[in-house]
Amino acid sequence: VRNLYLVRHGETVYNVEGRIGGDAPLTEKGLAQANALGRHFSNMVIPYIFTSTRQRSAQTAAPVLAGQERQGFAATRMALTEFDEINAGVCEGMRYDEIRSRMPEIFDARARDKYNYVYPRGEGYSTLKARVDRGLKKALFLSGNAPAIMIVGHQAINRMILSHFLFRRTEDVPYIYIPQDQYFHIVSTQKKKLFELVRFTG
Ligand code: G3H
Repeated sequence: VRNLYLVRHGETVYNVEGRIGGDAPLTEKGLAQANALGRHFSNMVIPYIFTSTRQRSAQTAAPVLAGQERQGFAATRMALTEFDEINAGVCEGMRYDEIRSRMPEIFDARARDKYNYVYPRGEGYSTLKARVDRGLKKALFLSGNAPAIMIVGHQAINRMILSHFLFRRTEDVPYIYIPQDQYFHIVSTQKKKLFELVRFTG
């Protein structure tokens, strides 16, 4: 694959409330972001679109798929569990301020070493790495020599995917900025590495 378009899902109800995890749908603003994404790619051919199994990821990919159909291409969409957001275990569905007040030991331990911290009955960035690498390998294998693929992932997932291509100290990975109105365009060949952050909506 020559071009990887790495997109984060649009704004969700949980994002607005500051909650983590779950399977919330997009807000009006999130749907507008997804539509803008679809318009942005309406003249580009993206034969493979990989999402997670969460509805926010599928909803964000939908206008891109529709745009491919309008151009007369049948893009393949595949939902991979490997791209599901980090499992926050006992903290799923909570707000960060709730975690800080009700489970301060979790909040503090994670703040001390966010990369290595693993949520009780959940995951951490350190344990997420193998799963995301597996998903990426699967996506690259399934898309063969397609000129372009898109992955519509999540904040933690996209941080891990970026760190796969971009050299980063592991402790910095959980803090990489992953916006919802811009995507990363990654071209990675033996000869060149290009990382471009592209805005697709105002
Ligand atoms: O729901 C999980 C978040 O997207 C991950 O963000 O690792 O910065 O808490 P965080």
